[in-house]
Amino acid sequence: MSHSLFFSFLLLFLFNCHGHANPNSNPKSVYAPELTRTPNFLGLYVDDNNGVWNITNRGKGVIIGMIDTGVMPDHPSFEDDQEMPPPPARWKGACEFLQPKGCNKKLIGARSFITDPTRETPSDQYGHGTYTSSVVAGRLVKDLQGDGQGSASGSAIGIAPLAHIAMYKVCNMDGCDDGDILNGINAAIKDGVDIISISIGSSEDSLYNDPISIGAFRAAQKGILVSKSAGNFGPSLRTITAPPPWVLTVAASNIDRRIGATVKLGNGEEFKGESLTQKEKELSMVPLVYPGSTGDLDANLCADDKFGGVNVSGKIVMCEDGGLFRFDYSYHVKNAGGVGVIIMNNATNAYSTHPQGMLLPTSNIDHESGLKIKAYIQSTKNPVASINFDGTITDGVRAPKIASFSSRGPCKATPGIMKPDITGPGVGVLGAFPYERLQGPNNSQPAAFKIESGTSSACPHLSGVAALLKSMHPNWTGSMIKSAIMTTADITDNTGSPIVDEKDLSAGHFAMGAGHVNAVKATDPGLVYNIKPNEYLSYLCGLGYNTSMVNKITGGDGNRDECSTSGSIAEHNLNYPSIIVPFTSHTNKVTIKRRVTNVGDPHSTYWLDIELPNGVEVEVNPSRLSFTRLGEVKTFKMIFKAHGNSNELNMAQGQLKWVSTKHVVRSPISIMFDLPSPLS
Ligand SMILES: *[C@@H]1O[C@H](CO)[C@@H](O)[C@H](O)[C@H]1NC(C)=O
Ligand SMILES: *[C@@H]1O[C@H](CO)[C@@H](O)[C@H](O)[C@H]1NC(C)=O
Ligand SMILES: *[C@@H]1O[C@H](CO)[C@@H](O)[C@H](O)[C@H]1NC(C)=O
Ligand SMILES: *[C@@H]1O[C@H](CO)[C@@H](O)[C@H](O)[C@H]1NC(C)=O
Ligand SMILES: *[C@@H]1O[C@H](CO)[C@@H](O)[C@H](O)[C@H]1NC(C)=O
Ligand SMILES: *[C@@H]1O[C@H](CO)[C@@H](O)[C@H](O)[C@H]1NC(C)=O
Repeated sequence: MSHSLFFSFLLLFLFNCHGHANPNSNPKSVYAPELTRTPNFLGLYVDDNNGVWNITNRGKGVIIGMIDTGVMPDHPSFEDDQEMPPPPARWKGACEFLQPKGCNKKLIGARSFITDPTRETPSDQYGHGTYTSSVVAGRLVKDLQGDGQGSASGSAIGIAPLAHIAMYKVCNMDGCDDGDILNGINAAIKDGVDIISISIGSSEDSLYNDPISIGAFRAAQKGILVSKSAGNFGPSLRTITAPPPWVLTVAASNIDRRIGATVKLGNGEEFKGESLTQKEKELSMVPLVYPGSTGDLDANLCADDKFGGVNVSGKIVMCEDGGLFRFDYSYHVKNAGGVGVIIMNNATNAYSTHPQGMLLPTSNIDHESGLKIKAYIQSTKNPVASINFDGTITDGVRAPKIASFSSRGPCKATPGIMKPDITGPGVGVLGAFPYERLQGPNNSQPAAFKIESGTSSACPHLSGVAALLKSMHPNWTGSMIKSAIMTTADITDNTGSPIVDEKDLSAGHFAMGAGHVNAVKATDPGLVYNIKPNEYLSYLCGLGYNTSMVNKITGGDGNRDECSTSGSIAEHNLNYPSIIVPFTSHTNKVTIKRRVTNVGDPHSTYWLDIELPNGVEVEVNPSRLSFTRLGEVKTFKMIFKAHGNSNELNMAQGQLKWVSTKHVVRSPISIMFDLPSPLS
């Protein structure tokens, strides 16, 4: 098997310090006590009658296929308690662990597709797959053993705690091979999974060369929803690679929890930062130094132990974020005798912080605070500072906010489809982790939990929500589940204001997609935009793909022209739950068609409510949709006209809503001019 695309696939944890050259310097961190935060944040609680867990039966009967690094079967997150039913009869998967404690009713299958250089077992040496599996469907674990430093008071639980997990190991510490990825997805489809979760990124930007796009296409043909992380290459636009319309593309946001570390300066000013490492109650006033003021770039970034010749011994050192693993800043400062670290965000990442475990007392602060601290250092002869650890803070934390690292659209491969699709929690999320990956081997301490950030953390939340919906609506296809999730998403945060990005500016559709997942509303969307499997083929034909490109994706006979029988659909007319209006410099008029299926009340009426940017107008026909039975389908047509020029209107935003007495079915609209050809 070739490793030709060896570097094009990667696991989407952020700033992961695993594999660091200095294994003895394990960061000791104390985890936040409120470990059930994301299920709470998503409104899933059992003790609330309106909680989604009550109405969806917590994912019972649903099988989630994980395409990942394997799983650690003896982690308590994957034990099967009495409530866990046996796998459904249709399950055809296998369990290939060598150890005696292998699969059970929770972890119903585990296979490895890694054969090069030797065949591997489905065990997880990395931790990524164990973590993502626990976020999707980990059972309740009370009194966490953790790393024994304060996490004992918490409990952790996945999003769909009664769903079954099947692991398809396609990545290891060396990365992921394209052939292995496709084999894993194909096997998951054959085995009978309902949802596929993929927290793997790639740099491949054509649909027909990307094994995830190809595998997911075949999954969509069977009605299986594939949920995939958007990538960690933000915040610039056009950083999502090859996101097909048959995949749910998941962006990452912060949750309403901070783990606080306040910096106090000698002049009394205070700055609220964050730190996972809270082992000291505080670091009292000590000298503060900014080695970057020498103009030495490595010193500015704390990139080595030299600090431009500045003596940092006994001091708190101010470092600017240059993209190093967070851990490395503290590693260098410690080697040079420093006692604390302040890492300030660079201008790009602005207000979006995502701390990791560190060797020294640390505070991660936003860019603006960093500039003020620098000004203080410059203004006084003997600058001093302290760092106070505030523990877990959930009051007054504005959330969700799109994380700086979260990849953005629009996308070259699928320019007529708005991406990402949806946002989920992806900053500071706790998940299961193999203990030995954190602290070294210890047989009496097999399991731990770890906080990670990345779209790898966001994706399994959506896979879990999809499993809840599938359990509640077993007849829904992947595209119906996706539509339900997208049309009910939140576009305001917990302060009631529009969701913002890393710069605290309103996050656009190309950062957050349809918005932040609202699991409660997604259970009852009213109407759905369904896509039939053959429409995806017609979409490909509409992209202008030739026979060999189409066949690479469908797996069809290389010589058969599938487009001659399927016909083609223009990109903007695929029945997608979001809308791109593709004007060109020559045409200021575009007609777009959609159809909705009634999944709400048999008798219901929906009225049109549409918002467009100035300079764009639309005629929608009909403007009222009346249904008399479930499953009834209605079509509507929108004729958009642009009066403004492309400079003002390109990427301008709007929204289409169908509103009944009970439901609001919202589709985000993006105005685009002169879409690039996906083939160029
Ligand atoms: C939700 O679950 C709780 C606890 O299991 C139960 O007491 C309550 O009656 C349930 N509510 C509904 C609507 O099923
Ligand atoms: C650096 O500063 C420390 C503490 O002030 C001092 O003990 C040490 O001698 C200094 N080292 C050098 C090389 O000046
Ligand atoms: C800003 O920080 C991010 C990582 O947080 C890094 O990827 C990026 O390269 C940095 N930008 C500059 C200009 O240093
Ligand atoms: C292993 O874990 C046990 C149980 O928490 C603990 O008492 C022991 O100190 C640990 N051993 C090592 C070598 O860390
Ligand atoms: C689901 O589909 C099956 C088989 O087509 C059908 O018998 C059943 O009534 C459907 N259930 C619902 C809730 O629509
Ligand atoms: C399809 O296009 C690709 C890329 O341009 C080309 O290599 C291939 O030969 C074409 N195949 C057919 C059947 O036209």
